[in-house]
Amino acid sequence: MYYARAKKFTMSDKEKLYIFDTTMRDGEQSPGASMSVEEKIQISRVFDEMGIDIVEAGFPIASPGDFEAVSEISKIMKNSIPCGLSRALKKDIDACHESLKHAPRFRIHTFISTSPLHMKHKLEMTNEQVLDAIKESVTYARNFTDDVEWSCEDGTRTDMDFMCKTVELAINCGAKTINIPDTVGYSIPEEFAKTIKHLKNNVPNIDKAILSAHCHNDLGLAVANALAGVSEGVRQIECTINGIGERAGNAALEEVVMAIKTRNDLMPYNTGVKTELISKASKIVSNATGFPVQFNKAIVGKNAFAHESGIHQDGMLKNRETYEIMTPESVGVKKTSLVMGKHSGRHAFKDKLSDLGYSDLTDDIIQAAFGKFKVLADKKKHIYDEDIVALVDDSLIVDNKINAINLKSLKVFAGTGEPQKAEMTLDVYGDIKNTTETGDGPVDAIFKCIKKLFPHDVKLSLYQVHAVTEGTDAQATVSVKIEENDRTTVGQSADTDTLVASANAYLNALNKMLIKREKKAPSQNIKHQKVKGI
Ligand code: KIV
Ligand code: ZN
Repeated sequence: MYYARAKKFTMSDKEKLYIFDTTMRDGEQSPGASMSVEEKIQISRVFDEMGIDIVEAGFPIASPGDFEAVSEISKIMKNSIPCGLSRALKKDIDACHESLKHAPRFRIHTFISTSPLHMKHKLEMTNEQVLDAIKESVTYARNFTDDVEWSCEDGTRTDMDFMCKTVELAINCGAKTINIPDTVGYSIPEEFAKTIKHLKNNVPNIDKAILSAHCHNDLGLAVANALAGVSEGVRQIECTINGIGERAGNAALEEVVMAIKTRNDLMPYNTGVKTELISKASKIVSNATGFPVQFNKAIVGKNAFAHESGIHQDGMLKNRETYEIMTPESVGVKKTSLVMGKHSGRHAFKDKLSDLGYSDLTDDIIQAAFGKFKVLADKKKHIYDEDIVALVDDSLIVDNKINAINLKSLKVFAGTGEPQKAEMTLDVYGDIKNTTETGDGPVDAIFKCIKKLFPHDVKLSLYQVHAVTEGTDAQATVSVKIEENDRTTVGQSADTDTLVASANAYLNALNKMLIKREKKAPSQNIKHQKVKGI
């Protein structure tokens, strides 16, 4: 059982609070937040290292991409328990089992709506029919694993007597975790806590399952609601990195974990999460989804540990605790430090990478990043930790696949008066091709060149530039998101030349799209279907 295994992370004898991450399932349901299989694998490696107890890796019936991601992730997880979502349908549960079966332990998470509103308008089912579906789905899922989680969708708008019946039935059928979703983010802390208390007091077999909270953030109360649930007996919180998810998102993992850690005097639980990896996880998820993190976002925002006002700075210098309730280091944020220059060697570079949390890179990646570092050191006066991180992330992107299309050279003519023009040479499947295009701005001219050299029809849905550090010689990280039918890819690149980064980011997204186009459904037995309405 994973309970015993999760103990491995336990740093103390405090009661365990399980962390269930759903970044790659509910998080991916944010409009436009789709992630590639490779990106999900990269994310799950970090989650595994962080000691997240359960990782919901996708909704296997929903698409071949989801199926493949869950399947690949289930092969690599060493510490976390991989999990897949299914409706109360045998074919969904079969897809979960098929994709998760490579893992020594896995969880099947099955759900059905229980609120009058959902049952009448969405499911068109009676209470009795819903009870039958719960019995059938949970019992069926138990054929494949003893780790079955059941959720009552729209739980917080469900009649309490009916909820008690459904929960008792799910536990009787073998569910080991009962999840109470605030699907539409409607609850408030006092009410959510009352719901949990009611279940604890009125469901006779409630002690045979772990109670879980799954709170959405429509009123900005997701974390507060989940923690209120803990005060009445919740021992698993479902959450996502950066709080991404449907509409306003889910409870943010980093906020839940750091609240428990920082106020352990009032919430004496142990999540076992290695908090020093939070910042890394946040960046990886933001890069993969193309969703920037708001500057003032708790824990992972750029300003979360910045002290601007004179009074605060003065206080901080005298004693950090005057204005700091947790240290930046505790979430993996290191003070921006000036690092090596152009005379630094490969060995020092490798040490620096390991300091920055990149201890498991292959020699090829290190070599590629070191080459880029040397080029950057020639161009840029001060190189900071953030620059190195951007270089490594860039090398990881390129390493993901052998790209079909690569930028060979780019010249851009920009400024007032003239129409902006780009001259570009691309290597397209080994053919060297060049062209010139004008555009409505230099980026438009660049993207037109790419379209001319490799004709394709995609919608550009996001173009975003971030400066990695301060100063006019800062590297820029560019993110580009493109869409084609129901496929979305996000490309990224970093360079001191924003226009070169723009071209490479677009090409990165395009190369990923070509890979997606080629992908076949991984399992012939599973008929995937677009799943709406969760
Ligand atoms: O919000 C929700 O109700 C869900 C369930 C599928 C758990 O995501
Ligand atoms: Zn949800």
